[in-house]
Amino acid sequence: MNYNIYQEPMTQLRAATPLIHFNKFSPKDGTTGFTFERDTVKAIILDVFLAGMDTASKSLEWVTSELIRHPRVLEKLQHEVKEIAQGRSMIVEEDLEKMQYLKAVIKESLRLHMPATLLAPRISTQDVKLMGYDIPAGTQVIINAWAIGRDPMSWEEPEEFRPERFLENSISYKGLHFEWLPFGAGRRACPGIQFGVAIMELALANIVYKFDLGLPNGVKQEDLDMSEKYGIVLHKKSPLVVTTSPRF
Ligand code: HEM
Repeated sequence: MNYNIYQEPMTQLRAATPLIHFNKFSPKDGTTGFTFERDTVKAIILDVFLAGMDTASKSLEWVTSELIRHPRVLEKLQHEVKEIAQGRSMIVEEDLEKMQYLKAVIKESLRLHMPATLLAPRISTQDVKLMGYDIPAGTQVIINAWAIGRDPMSWEEPEEFRPERFLENSISYKGLHFEWLPFGAGRRACPGIQFGVAIMELALANIVYKFDLGLPNGVKQEDLDMSEKYGIVLHKKSPLVVTTSPRF
């Protein structure tokens, strides 16, 4: 990859990240043939910024939309969160591990609405035979994780938003279960899994704990537009607009 394309915008990025000391990295490692320089560090930081922003925020928008369309799920989630919060004003990170339904809700939403629908392209390094197909070395492989998440061979009633299915299985985010790959798999898998999941869980738990959610201007929940717009990150064609009323 030519990292120089990042050079100009990174000047501004560097100004915004004064705690990063670029000069601490040695110019060459001399062993792998890979040089780790200022531009490399800048490119990695930009990569993390780009990969980490829209993915988590758009996922939060999708899951909120699903909750509005499924009041039973929202109510059940609010019940769980309230039980664990025990009257405190905020949900904190330590509470999250007890919120099994919250986790299931987010997983189910990521199954239906994976922000990165086509994983990072791969190239096969050797000839392989897979399910009867001959795939020569050097073939570019594009993995449609979106379609995998809705495959009726793997998921019962795949188009249904039903978080309970994730209470009944032990599928983790780590990319070990190929029927569900919202963060990819293998060495190119998302390095921000824990951060991304924690952000979503913490934000969603606090939103549903503090607010009841509704739709403005008499829009009915079943009429909420769930159309997708394809981009680097899959987002809603019509952005979600919600009304909120404080719960306490
Ligand atoms: C809901 C949140 C997120 C989702 C669903 C998500 C999903 C993904 C997916 C599917 C990939 C491609 C993996 C593959 O091809 O196997 C990826 C790559 C990546 N993600 Fe995430 N991501 C999320 C949040 C984040 C966050 C918060 C960060 C960083 C703070 C991050 C950093 C990255 C980076 C740097 C890559 C590129 C890795 C590479 O090129 O090898 N992601 N992400």
